[in-house]
Amino acid sequence: MMELVFASNNRHKVDEVQSIAGDKFLIRSLDEIGCYDEIPETGNTFEANAGQKSRFIYERYNLACFADDSGLEIDALNGEPGVDSAHYSGSRDFGNNIALVLEKLGNNSERRARFRTVISLIIDGTEHLFEGSIEGRITETISGTRGFGYDPIFIPSGYDITFAEMDAAEKNRISHRAIAVHKMIGFLRTL
Ligand code: IMP
Repeated sequence: MMELVFASNNRHKVDEVQSIAGDKFLIRSLDEIGCYDEIPETGNTFEANAGQKSRFIYERYNLACFADDSGLEIDALNGEPGVDSAHYSGSRDFGNNIALVLEKLGNNSERRARFRTVISLIIDGTEHLFEGSIEGRITETISGTRGFGYDPIFIPSGYDITFAEMDAAEKNRISHRAIAVHKMIGFLRTL
């Protein structure tokens, strides 16, 4: 069994990765290794932030580890909110962040967007990056109550419902995060 630390304390994400990884891997969260530090996240790209988080853990604990960073990129807003997705409006409130996106887009008919995740994995000191993305568009109004973040205003391509109207199992099957995690697990199985 291979043990990997996930630089996250989001139990939902840790469980999701564990279920994709299967029983040949043991995914441990930060509190399981006794890490309660505030991990810096000051980069300008998903790659930089994910790498900053995984290096932080690797340098202190010398364990195989990975970290992810994700967000929403809207073409008509030059890729915003991007790395600022979690606090776009200046607060972490999902409703405020959604309201700012809808206000900035106004009635612009160009509403193409994508969710993107980058995972940085460090094994024996070497970094490996894995990316997942899902294309879609931003709605004019909020729809659905499931999920989190920008889910109520994102319709993935090929669907006519938002992520917030989809059941969790379906979203987790097609999401940016799931794609990146599958790539990482595929790589680990070749080692
Ligand atoms: P994180 O790096 O995965 O914590 O994501 C940063 C921010 O991006 C979150 O706070 C959300 O605002 C947004 N985000 C990332 N993934 C999703 C998603 O699957 N649905 C909706 N919003 C997301």
